[in-house]
Amino acid sequence: MSQPLPLDRHALRQHLRHLRRALTDKQQVQAADLLAEHAVNFAPVARAARIALFLSVDGELNTRPLIAKLWQMNKQVYLPVLHPFAAGHLLFLCYTPETVLTPNKLRIPEPPLDIRQLTPLDRLDVMMVPLVAFDRDGQRLGMGGGFYDRTLQNWRQHGFLPVGLAHECQQVERLPVAEWDVPLTAVLTPSRLWQWE
Ligand SMILES: Nc1ncnc2c1ncn2[C@@H]1O[C@H](COP(=O)(O)OP(=O)(O)O)[C@@H](O)[C@H]1O
Ligand SMILES: [Mg+2]
Repeated sequence: MSQPLPLDRHALRQHLRHLRRALTDKQQVQAADLLAEHAVNFAPVARAARIALFLSVDGELNTRPLIAKLWQMNKQVYLPVLHPFAAGHLLFLCYTPETVLTPNKLRIPEPPLDIRQLTPLDRLDVMMVPLVAFDRDGQRLGMGGGFYDRTLQNWRQHGFLPVGLAHECQQVERLPVAEWDVPLTAVLTPSRLWQWE
């Protein structure tokens, strides 16, 4: 958090992804359990019926314990699927314990593209968002695909709340911001909730 950050977006991504991957297995397990506990007590999540999540890769906070809790609470969980035609766009499909996941071209497991399982964004209450870094203003840096910038473009009209999930070490003072970047109004880490606005 206090390291000097001279870096452009590419170098920042590399630096933060390295920090994240350097966490030990034990730190990862603790972080994921704390976060799950935290997240289900966060009011917008506690009252949500439909929540979009993501499956963790690359040292991201493991979302599995949270997903298990949400299922126990009878919440509907959705996962992103790469849009088959519209490059750079995501679809959100229902994820249950019975769903068989298959790795996509980015090697991230996703549900089968069954339109009966597809949800319009308007139906979601909360969308948990992955990130590589976030800053003091809630600005978000992703993996570089812009997927969530596109998805979050009109989040207020859709009526869901985007919530970033991150390890503490992913916070930086200030990120370079591009015109298409969509800032977050909430980020959950294992130890606290950050909120803006
Ligand atoms: N709403 C959008 N519409 C069209 N292209 C977008 C949009 N948001 C992002 N992009 C494109 O996605 C690319 C990656 O965005 P970037 O913000 O760098 O990635 P990330 O948010 O994953 O860190 C950018 O080059 C940008 O042109
Ligand atoms: Mg962006």
